[in-house]
Amino acid sequence: MRVVSGIQPTGNLHLGNYLGAIRNWVRMQDEMEDGSQCLFFLADLHAISMPHDPAELKAATLEMTAALVACGIDPAKSVLFNHAQVPAHAELQWLLGGTARMGWLNRMTQFKDKSGKNREGASIALFSYPVLQAADVLLYQATHVPVGDDQKQHLELARDIAQKFNNDFCTEDAPVFTLPEPYIPPQAARIMSLRDGSAKMSKSDPSEMSRINLSDDADTIMKKVKKAKSDADVLPSEAGGLEGRAEALNLVTIYAAVTGESVDAVLGQYGGEGFGKFKPALGEILVETLSPISARFRELKEDRESLDAILARGAAKARELGSDTLARTYAALGLVRG
Ligand code: TYM
Repeated sequence: MRVVSGIQPTGNLHLGNYLGAIRNWVRMQDEMEDGSQCLFFLADLHAISMPHDPAELKAATLEMTAALVACGIDPAKSVLFNHAQVPAHAELQWLLGGTARMGWLNRMTQFKDKSGKNREGASIALFSYPVLQAADVLLYQATHVPVGDDQKQHLELARDIAQKFNNDFCTEDAPVFTLPEPYIPPQAARIMSLRDGSAKMSKSDPSEMSRINLSDDADTIMKKVKKAKSDADVLPSEAGGLEGRAEALNLVTIYAAVTGESVDAVLGQYGGEGFGKFKPALGEILVETLSPISARFRELKEDRESLDAILARGAAKARELGSDTLARTYAALGLVRG
């Protein structure tokens, strides 16, 4: 089993990232069997697809590294690195560029969302970003890719690219690429904004009140939960009763995901109660879960030297793990390399 996943180092790590992806990275890392390997990376090359401030990107890359370690990613067990120190990602992206089709990329909803009405003004990097994401996983022969629901379409594209490349350039018994399987958690695959139940919780939402950051202190968490959009009705006793109540469903889903219970079990406990009772309880379990992480994060982010060393060590290992696939890709395409 080869587990590979990444996160963009923009802004703070938030509860959606944690429940939708990072918590599963940690689980997969801790349950790894002999011969398996986990690779997790900061997708800093992806972060330059949108307008950005170089100094902020540098700081965010190190802070996100500290946040991942604080969440439980152990650099002694997993390979933890950033794109920019492993040039094979960018190389493989170019090599896959002959296989990926414009029509496939035109269908990517994230490109449509992020480019908005200004399609002509979007960067080339934003358009071709899913090809880099395919390279990220195909480079390491990933079998499992733990992500939130919003990345599903990108992973389907990675499978399409791998399949077409294998068909076009390889013999049936010697394909270059493994087809990766997305691992999307059954619960918490899409945590929504605390201000709008129809928008996902996101690092790029201008409102800080829309998300809970893993670095938030207890008071901030309690305040954000208290101010979260909800409604005046009591909670139903079964999940079906939350239909049409997106904000209420989101808050109950967060409670269930954090405690590891089902939504029905949470409603079994709080059905008939209003948000005046539910929100403080939710705030408390969030503080309990997140405060050890934020304490560790605050400590780690000050140790710049250790963070640099973690990324350098991880990158050296990643370069080694990706070298064979990269060489086989060049060879399959008929490119002469001495
Ligand atoms: P990014 O940085 O937006 O998010 C990192 C991970 O967090 C998940 N996630 C969520 N899950 C549930 N609810 C939410 N509100 C929520 N918001 C984010 C994402 O699904 C993701 O798993 N393109 C990717 C990074 C990437 C990548 C890759 C991922 C680059 N290369 C290769 C997997 C494999 C991204 O921007 O994720």
